Amino acid sequence: MAIKFKRVNYIYQGMDGTPFRALKDINLTIEEKGEFITLIGETGSGKSTLVQHMNALIKPTSGQVEIYGIKIEETKKKSSKIKLNPLRQKIGLVFQFPDYQLFEETVERDIMFGPMNFGISKEEAKKRAKEVIQLVGLETGYLERSPFNLSGGEKKRVSIAGILAMEPDILVLDEPTSGLDPKGRDELLELFLSIHNKLNNTVLIITHDMNTVYQYASRVLVMNDGNLVFDGKPIDLFASPKLSSWNLDKPDLIDLCDKLSERLNITFENYPKDLEKVVARIKAGYHE
Ligand SMILES: Nc1ncnc2c1ncn2[C@@H]1O[C@H](COP(=O)(O)OP(=O)(O)OP(=O)(O)O)[C@@H](O)[C@H]1O
Ligand SMILES: [Mg+2]
Repeated sequence: MAIKFKRVNYIYQGMDGTPFRALKDINLTIEEKGEFITLIGETGSGKSTLVQHMNALIKPTSGQVEIYGIKIEETKKKSSKIKLNPLRQKIGLVFQFPDYQLFEETVERDIMFGPMNFGISKEEAKKRAKEVIQLVGLETGYLERSPFNLSGGEKKRVSIAGILAMEPDILVLDEPTSGLDPKGRDELLELFLSIHNKLNNTVLIITHDMNTVYQYASRVLVMNDGNLVFDGKPIDLFASPKLSSWNLDKPDLIDLCDKLSERLNITFENYPKDLEKVVARIKAGYHE
């Protein structure tokens, strides 16, 4: 077990001093290997707050997060002295808003910062920067540019490259494909999947796209109003009658199957994962 949440609560202190409980009694375990997890839930449900606990960027107000055996809790004064650097290298977190992550003068220096901070030599960091920039779909010419003069999608890719360069054991991505065009989104999702397949490391992606959940995830977590309300297989989530009460949509393919079943009086024993199977099912089971 790499990350374990035990009854974690998190309270934000608002500008006017009003407390806001963003996480409510969260219990959750995440393994280092083998999982491709999506974290979903409506806006403001606590997703970003939850993942910021995973590399101790914020500490629980009460309860405990254990990361690779290191216990992080607010009440323990000592935990502020714990060396968090090794944890941050093991669990790479890509922020929802790339502007929070980018700060160096050039893209290259920005990408090199993380690895060098964790003791990698300058030459090796330079080499990694050249590799990862291409992995995220940008040409090496971008390395010389300022991260501040890039488009939103380019910034997003650079911030992902910076985390990939640290070669974390667990990759946590807060809405990595928001603001990208459909082709860019698919390319990046395929990249995360290929990293996962190659290294068998756990990848956790926050998304609002149910197709991503259905097509890619082995496990899905649902946040609703600060509560973790679902932790299981995507197929069980989308069959759940509670789906709409959490303000979640169905993936396109499941929606199509449900509409076809209604109109044409055919049933799908298992929801198919690609359109060809839907077509085959209709051909097999429906005659006017
Ligand atoms: N710094 C802060 N101070 C006070 N309240 C905050 C702060 N950051 C977040 N919140 C509140 O905590 C709740 C959870 O926020 P969080 O960013 O975790 O939601 P989210 O699920 O990631 O939403 P989104 O899908 O919009 O990114 C929201 O209601 C938000 O208004
Ligand atoms: Mg968020």
